[in-house]
Amino acid sequence: MTAKAPIHPLDALNPEVRRRFPTIDRDSGGRPRLYLNTGAGSLTVDTAAEAARDAQGRLNPMPGVVVSGESETAALHARVRDLAADFVNARNGREISFHQSATAALFNLAFGLRGVLHPSANLIVTDLDHMANVSPWETVWGEGHGLEVRRARITTEGKLDIAHLLSLADARTGLLAVTSASNGTGSIVPLGETVAAVRKKAPDCLVAVDAVHHAPHGSIDVQETGVDLLVFSGYKTFGPMMGVLWGRAEILEKLRPYRVETNKDVLPGKFEMGMLNNASIASLEAALEYLLWLARLVAGPAAPEAGRASRFRLAMTSILEYEQRLARRLLEGLGRLDPSRFRLFGIADPARAAERVPTFAFDVAGLPATEAKRRLWEGFGIQIADGNHYSAAVVRHLGRPEGICRASFAHYDNAEAVDRLLEALERLAG
Ligand SMILES: Cc1ncc(COP(=O)(O)O)c(C=O)c1O
Repeated sequence: MTAKAPIHPLDALNPEVRRRFPTIDRDSGGRPRLYLNTGAGSLTVDTAAEAARDAQGRLNPMPGVVVSGESETAALHARVRDLAADFVNARNGREISFHQSATAALFNLAFGLRGVLHPSANLIVTDLDHMANVSPWETVWGEGHGLEVRRARITTEGKLDIAHLLSLADARTGLLAVTSASNGTGSIVPLGETVAAVRKKAPDCLVAVDAVHHAPHGSIDVQETGVDLLVFSGYKTFGPMMGVLWGRAEILEKLRPYRVETNKDVLPGKFEMGMLNNASIASLEAALEYLLWLARLVAGPAAPEAGRASRFRLAMTSILEYEQRLARRLLEGLGRLDPSRFRLFGIADPARAAERVPTFAFDVAGLPATEAKRRLWEGFGIQIADGNHYSAAVVRHLGRPEGICRASFAHYDNAEAVDRLLEALERLAG
């Protein structure tokens, strides 16, 4: 099929990785499947599912300092904040808060910026973003406070139009809300350079990043990229249904989020409404520990023990490289399909696989997305997504407001999965 590329460590480790995901080739009813829907929710790693069960059945609900069960809960919270901080290369766990979902975190963040955003400020959101990082800003600041919310376009190739984004920024831009990778077209936003360019025009602009789609595919470094606020989701990162918010402490301290009077106005708990979900937090710990396990496998037994943030970086860089190889293989195969019967939305050139994550939006055989999804499932046991994927502006730009097919891969997939999808698409398109 494709010219043989040199072996990547994750090629050899793939069987071991796959064994960590008990539902990888069977759905909940035991039916064989190829799961190509990580964009909607990754598979849960074995230890993350076990940790949730254990915590729910055993842990004291409230943290505290007197009774041992209480201190165990308090220690869990502190440990997982520190772990999540290392995952995004933040300074420490005080900058991490836990939420019901990334969407809930972003709404609370938008609300909390009262008194921080100037009344004459404007905000920039992007058409590449999932609505979770658009609606909170439009609702709270556009509708609620009457501020101007500007929308950066995407290019015909499904990338963020950075030139357009920069043309929208000015000295009054108070906030840029931007994704780091699109869950619609898979394209990556070069965060560091984009943020630096925006700040030249808008020095006081805060940058709030939706890293939900990027988190399972590559490393996140909040310090290197110079962003201010960032969310990711546990269930897109091999773990629980929950959102995680990171923010630069100096900024978080100024915010006034929803908060009951008795919840102290201190980091990080001031952002957390009600008791925390201990089962999810324990599960998140296991999911992130899984990535450290992966780093150990990739580094091999002889590798010197690096700090935890570096080990996360190693795991995520290996995942990125491995997935780019899968993406190249898929793009090469898709390029051979009849263009009148198959259309890929997004970067299609295999040589540019580094500009995207392995999330592929497409139309096949002129079928409505739900029908194509049904045929892939019923005829080939392949599970993909249909619909707008909450990236409403992306599908409007692509001229498919009713929805598109999306196949999304992760590091537990392999060349065989790519070839199975290609074969099925060839049959459908043919
Ligand atoms: C890119 C992106 N951002 C945000 C979200 C929302 O995350 P959550 O379900 O945790 O609110 C999703 C979920 O699909 C997503 O794909």
